[in-house]
Amino acid sequence: MFAYNESVSALNYTHRSERSFGLQPTPISLETSMDEPERKTDRRTFLSRSAATLAGAALSSTASSYGRILGANDRIALCHVGNGSRGSDLDLIVSKLASSHNVEMNSVCDLWRHNREKAVATNTRYYNRSPRAFQHIEDALAEKQIDAVILSTPDHSHSPLLKMAADAGKDVYVEKPMGNVFEEAKAARDAVLQNKLVVQVGTQHRSEPYQIAAHDLVQSGVLGDVTKIEMVWNYHGPRWRGRPETKLVREEETDWRKFLLNKPYRPFDPQVYCEFRLYKEFSSGIPDQWMSHGIDLVHWFMNDSFPKSAVAHGGVFAWHDGRENADTFQALLEYPKGFLVSYSTSFGNDAPGFTRFMGKKATLFNFGGEGSPRYQLVEEKGTHEDNPDIDKNRTSKYVLLPGETTLPPMGIDDLTLGHMANWFECMRSREQPHCTVREGFAHSVACMMVTEAYWSGRKQYWNASTETFSDRGPAA
Ligand SMILES: NC(=O)c1ccc[n+]([C@@H]2O[C@H](COP(=O)([O-])OP(=O)(O)OC[C@H]3O[C@@H](n4cnc5c(N)ncnc54)[C@H](O)[C@@H]3O)[C@@H](O)[C@H]2O)c1
Repeated sequence: MFAYNESVSALNYTHRSERSFGLQPTPISLETSMDEPERKTDRRTFLSRSAATLAGAALSSTASSYGRILGANDRIALCHVGNGSRGSDLDLIVSKLASSHNVEMNSVCDLWRHNREKAVATNTRYYNRSPRAFQHIEDALAEKQIDAVILSTPDHSHSPLLKMAADAGKDVYVEKPMGNVFEEAKAARDAVLQNKLVVQVGTQHRSEPYQIAAHDLVQSGVLGDVTKIEMVWNYHGPRWRGRPETKLVREEETDWRKFLLNKPYRPFDPQVYCEFRLYKEFSSGIPDQWMSHGIDLVHWFMNDSFPKSAVAHGGVFAWHDGRENADTFQALLEYPKGFLVSYSTSFGNDAPGFTRFMGKKATLFNFGGEGSPRYQLVEEKGTHEDNPDIDKNRTSKYVLLPGETTLPPMGIDDLTLGHMANWFECMRSREQPHCTVREGFAHSVACMMVTEAYWSGRKQYWNASTETFSDRGPAA
């Protein structure tokens, strides 16, 4: 039984990283209070202040290498490719940063007329002038006036389109997972590195203040040797089935062959088009959608990026609606530094989600599912052999940002501004953003390894020297 005493004094911890919102190291207080009086600074205020800080830094930097060399006062011209549901979020995020970061969405690109026209209307509202509209990314990439591209198309197209954009010399913000076909992901990464581009991969939690605080805490060594990380993110419902767009989309209003991209031809299927997350040729489902976020945080917190090996199991147990991808999924991944990660999602039950980083000196709890800002540190205080009553002596402290006196929520939406702001800043400074293609490649490898293990039923091993994975272990 895991027990601990919650009444301990606050512990001050110095924020070691300079990659966060303020440029000075800032103290992070770990408090114990369970009551939630009115908050002095809400999260949105904090984030928008942070964005303003970044804006100042961005506008004072100059670009050292750039396709169209940007002066400090040049507006960054963006093209947004893939204007669906996530696309609307990203349009909103960009619009909130447009004046502080001097950017404009001056073109949009979507295969499907319906979403393309919606994006034109939305961005006209945001900028008081109409963006140019393209159906095909090739035409958009040929435009010299476009500085950078945002990609929020379906999972299977991220790497191929990222490579095309990189070959055209554009900086890119690409949604997660960075890729789900190994050779395509590798080719995209290499093209970005070769062309020295600034590419941000869309695991936005890396740019959120509570995640940065938790990351720095783990990096401080306060947990001792971490041997196990457990992540459970649940949801009750036939997730990704029944999207209303499925009834709207017509083959003659889009370009089905371009949607298929590198996949073998199959007849037009509106469910595949809109509910791609359920079909294994296009997405792995739970790993691509959710585990990519979770494992990316693990890689970053632990500074260990490629699993040594991975196994997975699961199936369609909750929603027998024609889906191919699992609705109940569990993976185990071993990492070179010597710890095991357990990732689990069920769509058939809403039992509360959590993540715990389990070290010999302390546990870092994260209450809630993807991106929850609520973290708590619980001391271990030694072994049961040292003290049979050890569990009565454990103390706990919540992770709070400087100036915060109340607990953060146990969830967060996908609309935080920090990740996009960081990309804009890096486009001007030519520094690398919070989630580079190397890190995007690493989360993609982890997701591809568990997916291969799930479908093949065979444990997968990573070979770092050849950068490949297979079911042949080191002994073979
Ligand atoms: N970071 C996050 O928190 C987050 C949240 C939600 C979704 N996402 C990611 O966003 C991506 C898109 O998800 P969605 O729900 O918006 O999908 P969606 O189906 O709503 O939108 C995809 C859009 O891309 C268009 N499209 C498809 N192929 C194209 C191509 N080759 N060129 C141009 N347009 C093309 C479609 O017509 C559609 O309008 C997914 O990969 C998902 O992982 C990320």
